[in-house]
Amino acid sequence: MSYLETTRDVYREAALTPDVGLCCTTNPVWELPGLKIPQIMQEMNYGCGSTVHPRDLGNNPKILYVGVGGGMELLQFAYFSRQKKGVIGVDSVSEMLDASRKNFTEAEKQNPWFKSEFIDLRKGDALSLPLEDESIDVAAQNCLFNIFKAEDLKKALEEMYRVLKPHGRLVMSDPVCEQGMNDELRNDERLRALCLSGSLPLNEYVKALTDVGFGTIEIRARKPYRILDPKNYPTSELIYIEAVEVAAIKDPMPEDGPCVFTGKAAIYYGENDYFDDKKGHILLKNQPLAICDKTAGDLAKLGRDDIYISESTFHYDGGGCC
Ligand SMILES: C[S@@+](CC[C@H](N)C(=O)[O-])C[C@H]1O[C@@H](n2cnc3c(N)ncnc32)[C@H](O)[C@@H]1O
Repeated sequence: MSYLETTRDVYREAALTPDVGLCCTTNPVWELPGLKIPQIMQEMNYGCGSTVHPRDLGNNPKILYVGVGGGMELLQFAYFSRQKKGVIGVDSVSEMLDASRKNFTEAEKQNPWFKSEFIDLRKGDALSLPLEDESIDVAAQNCLFNIFKAEDLKKALEEMYRVLKPHGRLVMSDPVCEQGMNDELRNDERLRALCLSGSLPLNEYVKALTDVGFGTIEIRARKPYRILDPKNYPTSELIYIEAVEVAAIKDPMPEDGPCVFTGKAAIYYGENDYFDDKKGHILLKNQPLAICDKTAGDLAKLGRDDIYISESTFHYDGGGCC
């Protein structure tokens, strides 16, 4: 049996018998006007961070969500989209699709604005999406892609890239881990399926995205997620896992490489009203400008004593250079 089949088995079971502790989200349940998340959806929240960001959802986007779980984030996307088949949900486990369908019926009872027809559920695989090329504005996945081994991760990202329209965005949340993991952890199919032993260091995760062509990457959040300890897992050292929220935008790849925003800012505090680097970046005096890591490197190389460049905050929320 391949690890992909083990993964399907784990989530077949999690669809039939909801398991509150299966994944450990640190996000509070959303409280937006008129939005009620049914209890069963909360119990079936098998994600880590959030992929629903209102600023991605202007201009009536066509939304794709891969790996539906109990349907909570699809309901949250539908809150903003509110149209028939506005959100497409794809999952390879029939029992999970059935469970989420049932949960949407419950959501209808608790949310007068919501209709199940807002969600278009499709059986399909992340590695071969049942969708046309360039048909989606916003694609999302939460806590699925970290399970995939390198070749499958590449395929899954290529599929997302294929179905996105130019300048469309892929919004993701996954565990990441900066420590090396031993082979026993890496090869444990169940721990991998449970989103515990497949995670990559953040720079490798970002590289996987830029390697398939995404020209702009935004690291939006980075938070504590889980500990693998020697008493409970096959490891001799404590392993610390974080959850990240990342958006990858299908912008053309710049000639000098991708723009990766990790939450850095530059502040000019010199003699003039502004500093112009003649490469399209104007720093107004004493006003922080969000910059990508590439611009941060270029500004640092100037060696000036009137520009401050902050560390990465891993909390980028729009604007700035590029
Ligand atoms: C960790 S759960 C995350 C569920 C949901 N995104 C959430 O945040 O609660 C992974 C989901 O991906 C589905 N899944 C597993 N393998 C898949 C595949 N190869 N293609 C599509 N979906 C898959 C599972 O059935 C499950 O719904």
